[in-house]
Amino acid sequence: MAIIRVENFNKSFGEKHVHKDVSFSVQQGECLGLIGGSGVGKSVILKSLIGLIKPDSGRIFVKDQDITDFSEDELIEIRKNVAYVFQNGALFDSMTVYDNLAYPLREHTHLAESEIQGRIFSLLEEFGLSGNEKTLPAELSGGMQKRVGLARSIILQPEVVLYDEPTAGLDPYNTIKIQEMILALKKKGKTSIFVTHDMPSARAVCDRMALIVNGSIQAEGTFDDMKKEKDGLLNQFIEGRMN
Ligand SMILES: Nc1ncnc2c1ncn2[C@@H]1O[C@H](COP(=O)(O)OP(=O)(O)O)[C@@H](O)[C@H]1O
Ligand SMILES: [Mg+2]
Repeated sequence: MAIIRVENFNKSFGEKHVHKDVSFSVQQGECLGLIGGSGVGKSVILKSLIGLIKPDSGRIFVKDQDITDFSEDELIEIRKNVAYVFQNGALFDSMTVYDNLAYPLREHTHLAESEIQGRIFSLLEEFGLSGNEKTLPAELSGGMQKRVGLARSIILQPEVVLYDEPTAGLDPYNTIKIQEMILALKKKGKTSIFVTHDMPSARAVCDRMALIVNGSIQAEGTFDDMKKEKDGLLNQFIEGRMN
């Protein structure tokens, strides 16, 4: 079943026609890698999936609900189930790691503090982040901040996770740690879209790739498809950026 479906998405900013009939879908439990040069509109597509940006035309479906014209109130429910891991996913500086993670739970659930604590401790444990509960973000390395930021984005246990360049600027150790977090979430059945310039990570976590060129998806396929079609656009793009 398609959990995310984008149909004929068009969007212009001023004179600039950025998206031209972009269409794709993501199946339940699948991780789709969305790639393309800078400024082709990858982040805009992710933002539109949680209603932060509306297309000029086209439709967006999340679990068979057409969310294109959803009101802000209706979008609140969607945003609980579709997490957007922001490119520069900043933590609240003045709050400890614990309070950063507790924030969405206190805001959006009626869980008792003991349940909140249980959920935070098990998530930190699962992601190898235990022992940092009382730490302030500024005391963590950039890589650790990104990992805590990712943990916070999924604390409400969404079914869908949208990753916007989660490994950008990270050292190899933290890059692998982020890949592991994404794979662990995938194992739990999350559906996801992974926007990246980091081809080794895409290869590690994605089931299928889609390449945007000149405003539309010009090539789509699995890594197996690409092996068979070495001259294909997708394979060429990825091979060209593997290092
Ligand atoms: N809110 C906005 N207002 C004006 N232009 C925007 C806005 N958001 C994105 N754009 C433009 O749309 C294009 C695609 O942006 P983006 O989705 O961020 O690209 P990327 O593929 O690098 O993530 C860029 O040219 C950007 O300048
Ligand atoms: Mg972007």
